[in-house]
Amino acid sequence: MYTILETLFVIGCVAFASGEQQAVVKIVNNGTSKVDGVVYFKESTNGILVTGNITGLTPGSHGFHVHAIGDISGGCLTTGAHFNPKNVSHGGPNATVRHVGDLGNIEADETGLAVIKISDSIIALSGENSIIGRGIVIHEDPDDFGLTDASDSKTTGHAGARVGCGVIGTLSESSSANTVRSTILVAWILVVFACLVRTL
Ligand SMILES: *[C@@H]1O[C@H](CO)[C@@H](O)[C@H](O)[C@H]1NC(C)=O
Ligand SMILES: *[C@@H]1O[C@H](CO)[C@@H](O)[C@H](O)[C@H]1NC(C)=O
Ligand SMILES: *[C@@H]1O[C@H](CO)[C@@H](O)[C@H](O)[C@H]1NC(C)=O
Ligand SMILES: *[C@@H]1O[C@H](CO)[C@@H](O)[C@H](O)[C@H]1NC(C)=O
Repeated sequence: MYTILETLFVIGCVAFASGEQQAVVKIVNNGTSKVDGVVYFKESTNGILVTGNITGLTPGSHGFHVHAIGDISGGCLTTGAHFNPKNVSHGGPNATVRHVGDLGNIEADETGLAVIKISDSIIALSGENSIIGRGIVIHEDPDDFGLTDASDSKTTGHAGARVGCGVIGTLSESSSANTVRSTILVAWILVVFACLVRTL
């Protein structure tokens, strides 16, 4: 009897754990560049895992940021500034002071391919730091992390033109589906608990 109850409990926990959110962004060119790709965002124990492949870049480092506005109707220029809900200075991804959207640089090889694998504990897929519905911009130049004398170092990282961009969309089940899942889990736990009490 206990084994069955324990199994049910574990199944419930696994069902709950698999409710982690995921998001995706299709990166498009800026009208004249050749930039293309897809980036995924997934909740993990180390924060948000960011993975993806971008092609069509010039070799080297390119600033990679979440921008505040999820609007690419005017190319990459209508995505606003870096997503910065706390209105603080720009910084590198590991800096204590940074915009929420400051994900640093991605590195393109000599063929123009950047393979992205970043873990970030500041961006989120829910709550006030949620990046869902916001923009992603890949810049022409490296992000200087706010550390140089360039006049725009502390706002944009002096990363130059916007060569590719996209709008971050959810890749998860609807939140109502998650609510249903959570309700079923709670009901399960109550049933298991009631059975335990009866068998004691
Ligand atoms: C688009 O990207 C190219 C680099 O491929 C850049 O030279 C150009 O300035 C960018 N256009 C805009 C409008 O940002
Ligand atoms: C990136 O491309 C490699 C193959 O070049 C592939 O193995 C990997 O799964 C891709 N990553 C993503 C996140 O699409
Ligand atoms: C953000 O901070 C700057 C100074 O760093 C200030 O000029 C600006 O008004 C602030 N914006 C908001 C919306 O608080
Ligand atoms: C930030 O810290 C992580 C983990 O230590 C490291 O892998 C990454 O290279 C750092 N990023 C920068 C831009 O220094």
